[in-house]
Amino acid sequence: MQHLVDTNNFSEEQIAQLLHDAKTFKANRPSQLLRDKLLITLFFEASTRTRSSFEVAAKRLGAAVVHLDPSKSSSSKGESLEDTFANLCAMEPDGVIIRHSENETPQMLADMQMTSVINAGAGNYAHPTQALLDLFTLVEYFDGDIKGKTIAIVGDIVSSRVASSGIRLFTRMGMNVILVAPKPFMPQSDLPQYENLDDILDKVDVIMSLRAQLERHDTPHFDDYDEYAKHYCIDHKRLGDRNILVLHPGPVMRNIDISDEMLDDPRCKVLEQVKNGVYMRMAILKLLLLDS
Ligand code: CP
Repeated sequence: MQHLVDTNNFSEEQIAQLLHDAKTFKANRPSQLLRDKLLITLFFEASTRTRSSFEVAAKRLGAAVVHLDPSKSSSSKGESLEDTFANLCAMEPDGVIIRHSENETPQMLADMQMTSVINAGAGNYAHPTQALLDLFTLVEYFDGDIKGKTIAIVGDIVSSRVASSGIRLFTRMGMNVILVAPKPFMPQSDLPQYENLDDILDKVDVIMSLRAQLERHDTPHFDDYDEYAKHYCIDHKRLGDRNILVLHPGPVMRNIDISDEMLDDPRCKVLEQVKNGVYMRMAILKLLLLDS
């Protein structure tokens, strides 16, 4: 039984297979490879993209999907997460896709060895399917040639599981990663760190902008996000005609993370990331449920 808690669960060969399968699924009509499979989604935090993308990916491959809404489940009567998970596993799904506020939850459930556990985002530690879909988007854009390319991750890095998983995966794939953030948003890291976004614009091939994750802040870091935007918003004035790919995992805070006009710019691939997310999650489900 293979789980996906973070991208380091996959070997180099498996990552290459995922990129190949995602590309194939994007080029060709999806098949019904998983028609006898059943997945359960269990999201303890809000999601637009990840939950619907997994559901679309599963259905495109012929799998059935059942969603349990924790707010309407017996969790609200005090049932523990372990008991909720064990009861769902008693129904013999082929996998449980979980999003949770605690970093350790997916590994804890995976260790129960009852079904394949797929991490759809946990705390600020890991969002492996986002990192893999971002890798797919980068590989596609650079025609496979990502080694030595430089990506700047900009924004609330310390709160971001997208950044955590992305940093681990992009460095493993040979990319240079640099961090750009005001001090309250900067994590402890050995990677190059910058406070001034304008200082790095001539050094990078890619900017990944991140939202300020207010729901993870104990106290407000900034009174005024318009002031923050003056320094960190990705806009036409700042980028000029530089050939920089602009990514964002969503949800985008318009005109704080990325300006309206930049979101419509061909250099900005936010919706392509979402499209690629379906194909990468199809590849991940195939690998976990069929090939492992
Ligand atoms: N990128 C991402 O995780 O988006 P959602 O929170 O909408 O799933």
